[in-house]
Amino acid sequence: MLHRVTFSSQTFQTSNNAANVPSWWRSAVFYEVYIRSFQDSNDDGIGDLRGIAQRLPYLKSLGVDAIWITPFYPSPMADFGYDVSDYTGVDPSFGTMADFDSLIQAAHDLGIRIVIDLVLNHTSDVHPWFAEARSSRGNPKRDWYIWRDAKPDGSPPNNWTGFFGGSAWQWDAHTGQYYLHLFLDRQPDLNWRNPAVVQAMELVLRFWLDKGVDGFRLDAINFLIKHEAFPDMPIATNATGGDLVQYHIYVNNQPELHPLLQHVRRILESYPGDRVLIGETGTLKAPELSQFYGAGLDEIHLPMIVLPLHTTWQAQAMRECLLEFYAGLPERAVPHFVFSNHDDKRLITRYGLEHHRSIAMLLLTLSGSPILYYGDEIAMCDMYVPPEKRVDTAGMINPENYPGRDPNRTPMQWNASTNAGFTAETVESWLPINENRSTINVETQAQDPDSTLSFYKSLLHFRSSSRALREGSIQFLEDSGDVLAYLRECGDERLLIVINFGSDSPVLDLSVLTDHAHCVLSSTMQRPEAVAVAEVTLNAYESMLFRLTSNKEG
Ligand code: NOJ
Repeated sequence: MLHRVTFSSQTFQTSNNAANVPSWWRSAVFYEVYIRSFQDSNDDGIGDLRGIAQRLPYLKSLGVDAIWITPFYPSPMADFGYDVSDYTGVDPSFGTMADFDSLIQAAHDLGIRIVIDLVLNHTSDVHPWFAEARSSRGNPKRDWYIWRDAKPDGSPPNNWTGFFGGSAWQWDAHTGQYYLHLFLDRQPDLNWRNPAVVQAMELVLRFWLDKGVDGFRLDAINFLIKHEAFPDMPIATNATGGDLVQYHIYVNNQPELHPLLQHVRRILESYPGDRVLIGETGTLKAPELSQFYGAGLDEIHLPMIVLPLHTTWQAQAMRECLLEFYAGLPERAVPHFVFSNHDDKRLITRYGLEHHRSIAMLLLTLSGSPILYYGDEIAMCDMYVPPEKRVDTAGMINPENYPGRDPNRTPMQWNASTNAGFTAETVESWLPINENRSTINVETQAQDPDSTLSFYKSLLHFRSSSRALREGSIQFLEDSGDVLAYLRECGDERLLIVINFGSDSPVLDLSVLTDHAHCVLSSTMQRPEAVAVAEVTLNAYESMLFRLTSNKEG
């Protein structure tokens, strides 16, 4: 059935993203490298720093501006690097400090920036600070962590639960107190109310800034400060009225967090080179997200916006979600949209293969600086990892209901060989490699002009040449059924993006917008000649990017 969509120039709303300052991160495309799974260089089945260096030419040709590398610090790997035991070292499984230095040099030579992960909320339980803290109640580092007495019946001091399940308190028999861990019991939370902790971490920041990193991705940054009185958290049914869940309001975004973020920002700004702070803030609410930018835009440059990750792939829902964020952003703030990462299902698994290219079209044409997750560009999907092969602790707590994060962390598929070019053929990789590597791999797709990889590349390269996409305003169409449509404009450049979320073939009437639309790119990779249009018909699930000109210009 044909559905007619008529555009009206009155029905667009304008966002307030005036991104006209040339800071690189305002329009950059970031790419998350989950280091264990990207490229192994020494045949131990685990990705490493040298592996990333080997793949820099690929990243350059793909067209990304910066990479975020997940933690590579020494760690017992209870949470695969998010349990740090030395903040200024490199875990041997990932290489050496010399490898890091070479990587940063090689990346900069190619014009690729390096953002590293910084886990400030907690350390590993084998970090020397924690070893000292738990050695006796009187140890000078005791107060670097959060200790509380048991209740008279021996139970934990309050009802707080951890994000990986169970109580957030772990009993320490040796000193007879509980310590707090919002994640695994092997990840004790630091006490950021203690100035000595702030000072110690300042040295860590400076260490890496001196090495020339271009910024940090701040892990779980919203949880740094806990409510001083440690009250019980409220428990209520979840948003859909289902299970009882705990609302972590006494650990999330406490007022005292913000002076700390300003402090971190000032440290960054004392260095030359326009470094960036990306923040994992966990928030799904636009007004709260705004707070992480800071009242004077003096906190996190790019708080991650993960809401689209939790939104149904439906035009109206996505439009509402995006408009809410654009409307709620502080003046001149840059949105940093995250559609996939190492903690969540991959795009295809979440939304379906038929939508995959349209998701890329959306992410890479919205106003702001987006981030891709490795493998998105070749349409990698989650893989079933059998229980005996699972390594993520989160997937072992309730394996029937939640397989953990292993399915979305399997190794990058570089070619069709047994180990997909990730590691040597004789080696067992740390996680199994998806069997769909025979077609879903970089080498095969690089040779096919209609592949998903070719589509991503075209989109990324067009984006880098387009001021409208990098810096322009964005205006959304009010009501368009299954089609999400928006204009991006800067100076004389005028682009229209249309995304069909549905299986119908709607007819677009563009006459009020233009008399001449040239299709730059379509998710189906058909590139019709410039069309003098009154109407365009979209295929099912198709998305298109048009350059709008008048007949005179066209
Ligand atoms: C968020 C990270 O993305 C996740 O992988 C990790 O498990 C937790 N923070 C704890 O550090």
